[in-house]
Amino acid sequence: MTTILSRLDMACRAVFEDMGFEPEIAAVRESNRPDIAPFQCNGAMAAAGIAKKRGEAANPRDIAAKAVSALQGHPDIAHIDIAGPGFLNLHPTQDMTSARANALFADPKAGIVNLPPKTIIVDYGGANVAKPMHVGHLRSAVIGESIKRLLRAQGHKVIGDVHMGDWGLQMGHLISELAEEQPDLPYFDAAFKGNYPQTSPVTMEDLARLYPQASHKAKSNPDRMDASRIATAELQAGRRGYRALLDHFIAVSVAALKVGYGDLGVEFDLWKGEACVDPLIPDMIEGLKSQGIAEEDDGALIIRVAKPDDKKEIPPVMLLARSGAVLYHTTDLATLIDRKAEQDPDLIVYVVDERQALHFEQFFRAAVKAGWYSPEQLIHTGFGTMNGKDGKPFKTREGGVLRLEDLVEIMNDAAEKRLTESGFGTEFDAAERADIAKKIGLAALKFADLQNQRLTNYMFDPERFTAFEGKTGPYLLYAAVRIKSILRKAAAQNVSMGDITITEATEQQLVFVLDSFGKAVTQAAEKFAPHIICDHVYRLAQAFSRFYTECPIMADEVDAQVQSSRLSLAKLTLKQLGLGLDILGIDAPERM
Ligand code: ARG
Repeated sequence: MTTILSRLDMACRAVFEDMGFEPEIAAVRESNRPDIAPFQCNGAMAAAGIAKKRGEAANPRDIAAKAVSALQGHPDIAHIDIAGPGFLNLHPTQDMTSARANALFADPKAGIVNLPPKTIIVDYGGANVAKPMHVGHLRSAVIGESIKRLLRAQGHKVIGDVHMGDWGLQMGHLISELAEEQPDLPYFDAAFKGNYPQTSPVTMEDLARLYPQASHKAKSNPDRMDASRIATAELQAGRRGYRALLDHFIAVSVAALKVGYGDLGVEFDLWKGEACVDPLIPDMIEGLKSQGIAEEDDGALIIRVAKPDDKKEIPPVMLLARSGAVLYHTTDLATLIDRKAEQDPDLIVYVVDERQALHFEQFFRAAVKAGWYSPEQLIHTGFGTMNGKDGKPFKTREGGVLRLEDLVEIMNDAAEKRLTESGFGTEFDAAERADIAKKIGLAALKFADLQNQRLTNYMFDPERFTAFEGKTGPYLLYAAVRIKSILRKAAAQNVSMGDITITEATEQQLVFVLDSFGKAVTQAAEKFAPHIICDHVYRLAQAFSRFYTECPIMADEVDAQVQSSRLSLAKLTLKQLGLGLDILGIDAPERM
């Protein structure tokens, strides 16, 4: 069954078309005054404008009155009233609302519209091997995970790729710093022909120490910087010992990142990085040269991508630096070739800090110029930053480092405090309580991030994020947990679910919100905008709360049939809330 909104929409369009107007002008929308009417149609105003131009009678209220009489007796419409200059306020019938609720109940996807499946790669996370994470990586993980789940919910084949940064100067820093500390390792002996050790010569702690150590020295000492540059160039040129070290660094970092991202509930299908496309670069460069796209410029190899109608200057793509080094553009382009060969995606969505917008614009243009992809297939969805109280990008520790573990711990502590304050969870054992606190902390963090329009900056405020009231993650968890507890109670008392029959206003309003989920998912996916899902789940939780206040379910006086109808409505709400929260990457506890 189609949505309530589209049924009303079709009815109104047909009537305006019969009156000789374009049907589009009669589009029905959710009203912005749901207290007066749930749906409205403003077609009469537009029609009056058109009629006037045609030199016909053009009073919008008269046109509205005609529409009302044409819609009289429509099986989906209980009543219509005309407001103000000619707005049509539409009230659907309870029967149609009930039918829609039952259809949603039977739909495993609770109203999400399946689309013809596309293959989509979501490139997110983007952490760098050894280089510390920053808030851009955190937001990319949270937003990217949600976009991946959103597109998956629509039925697409979606592949999440972490696309690690493991091919730049940071690798040269690590190699040369390790060479200073442990010069006797076989990796540094150019004459060594044997097999390198299987176990890594460094731990994650070593990497976290070596990188800042090297970059600090290199800042004040040009010779030290040269050593890092040379090591990078030798690595990229294929020096065996360095490649072997790189593999160790990557393995150690991936193991640590899997834990860090795992704690956040972020999972990647592919753990590829820049280094793994290195073998594709020579052929790619030859190809681009023979196409006449890549050209020498002052010793470097570039692709010009500026267009005459550009509003701002778009500098060329840098394929090779004068030193011959491979750059960020180069690896991103080679990754496009790899993806074409491996997944042949219809679409690639890059969830990366808005500050990199120019980088994406540049290499997208190069890929289009080379004929590999069409412009609509490559999308950069940027985002703003999460700031600390000082108004600067948030950090968890001195020295500008963001550690996911620290962040998760801060959120955990804030959640614990909230639990204690609100008197929740006192009866549970320590392990369950800890699990609840962790889920609250993560829900708080993710929801606070995702509810903003992507490009907005916002402030990290664990106290506000963890509040149980207001538009927060914990409020939504509480809503889900409350319904779970109603369903448990019903199961314990053997109350079964039955057909949904809507009789009360708050029940009907709840169904109107449930009805709009499909549209919310479609719009969120079209705009890569998880905040639209946040808005929906919040509205849904509020509508449930109003319904439940007015319409008791498990109270003694409730008639059996009414009870089983309301129970189904509660179950449907939980299902949709769960699907919505899952798209946001949020997991609700069983109780709290
Ligand atoms: N590693 C990069 C950084 O830290 C982000 C990678 C984003 N993805 C990409 N395909 N360029 O800035």
